[in-house]
Amino acid sequence: LSSVEVDVAALEPGMSLTVKWRGKPVFVRNRTPQEIEAAQAVKLDELKDPLARNANIASDAPASDVDRSAGEGKENWLVMVGVCTHLGCIPLGQQGDFGGWFCPCHGSHYDTAGRIRKGPAPENMTVPVFEFISDTKIRIG
Ligand code: FES
Repeated sequence: LSSVEVDVAALEPGMSLTVKWRGKPVFVRNRTPQEIEAAQAVKLDELKDPLARNANIASDAPASDVDRSAGEGKENWLVMVGVCTHLGCIPLGQQGDFGGWFCPCHGSHYDTAGRIRKGPAPENMTVPVFEFISDTKIRIG
């Protein structure tokens, strides 16, 4: 299957789930207001990777929080391929220096928008093609 449908109705703020898509884990997180605020407060010039890496928007879009998220009005939703952009380990959620994800393989720290902030990984985690097909259902791919 090239696409997968995910029911997110049970995901309260602060909850995540992981689905498999094309053999890779995809993290779906309903972010808390605090997580969104923390990510929005980061200045773009503080980012190691300035690009959004979001397959749903322009490839040169900057890595603002909204452009990493599911977009305006759905900023709480973060959907991304859960693969470290260093050498492909699976980062652990809600860990690391920025409260986002931490890759234990070689110590890459991602923030609450999945952007690389510290460590050897070169890029933000990838946001795959996805869309909400209802209020509570996402289709990835
Ligand atoms: Fe994640 Fe190396 S694979 S830090």
